[in-house]
Amino acid sequence: MKSLKGRDLLTLLDFTGEEVRSILEFARNMKLEFKAGRLHNYLAGKSIALIFQKPSTRTRVSFDVGIYQLGGHPIYLGWSELQLGRGETIADTARTLDRYVDGIVARVYKHFDLEELARYADVPVINALSDLYHPCQALGDYLTMWEKTGRTEGLNVVFIGDGANNVCSSLIVGAAKLGANITVCSPKKYWPRPELLEAVKKDFEVHGGQLRLVESPTEAVKDADVIYTDVWVSMGMEAEAEERLKVFQPYQVNSQLLSKAPDDVMVMHCLPAKRGLEATDEVLDGPHSIIWDQAENRLHAQKAVLALLIP
Ligand code: CP
Ligand code: NVA
Repeated sequence: MKSLKGRDLLTLLDFTGEEVRSILEFARNMKLEFKAGRLHNYLAGKSIALIFQKPSTRTRVSFDVGIYQLGGHPIYLGWSELQLGRGETIADTARTLDRYVDGIVARVYKHFDLEELARYADVPVINALSDLYHPCQALGDYLTMWEKTGRTEGLNVVFIGDGANNVCSSLIVGAAKLGANITVCSPKKYWPRPELLEAVKKDFEVHGGQLRLVESPTEAVKDADVIYTDVWVSMGMEAEAEERLKVFQPYQVNSQLLSKAPDDVMVMHCLPAKRGLEATDEVLDGPHSIIWDQAENRLHAQKAVLALLIP
């Protein structure tokens, strides 16, 4: 396997199945050791810039805490507080930061901006969410599924909601790399982008998972091991809120829908949730929900990414 040192993580598409699995294995081991009291100093003497163009609770805090736990120095930088906010180019910002820090974690509106950052910074750039992908979320999520079930191969993951959004896209790529089956259940207009479906085709073939696109939630959840949902209106899509709130109404994850799924189905949500819209309190706080373990695993998955990618 090629070394992961120095690589960017903009999307899991750039990693092989073996590499994705190795990140999860590293995360699992480090998590167990950390819980047993062992300290890891993979980032001793290193500084990591955290650039955020959008709000964040989990990603921001888990990266900050994770870098600290690894002995490094996190520097939180709000987009508009940087000269970026006054029009300095992304290229110039990247070339400057590159001289100070050992890695850049960035949450942006446009994925293109991340690519631009990565083009001009030699240090690794890690995607903390863009309009297209949320790879750190998917890594934490598959770590959680692996811990709960002991496998990712053949696991039936059912995503209900906006099938074209960043979280669903990264879950699809993760499934392709890890041999999981993924069903995306959305109104047709919100099915995954055709370019993404093309990009993951080979990995589904090689690793044995299957991708299914359906419109009916009851049909989707029949054999689900995991039901996963996300907000109907992602950050930056507020102008479409009215239409989305209407069209996704039948896609709410509620007790009635859960009654159509296997008894031991698990419910996941990347959070933040709009309670009462994409999922009810009853479900999010109920016995099938694993959302807090899922949120915790962002920390462990990202620590593994940092330890493996930062040179
Ligand atoms: N799931 C996730 O990325 O949450 P935040 O927006 O709070 O970082
Ligand atoms: N799809 C959501 C995920 C938030 C973590 C958004 O982009 O707002």
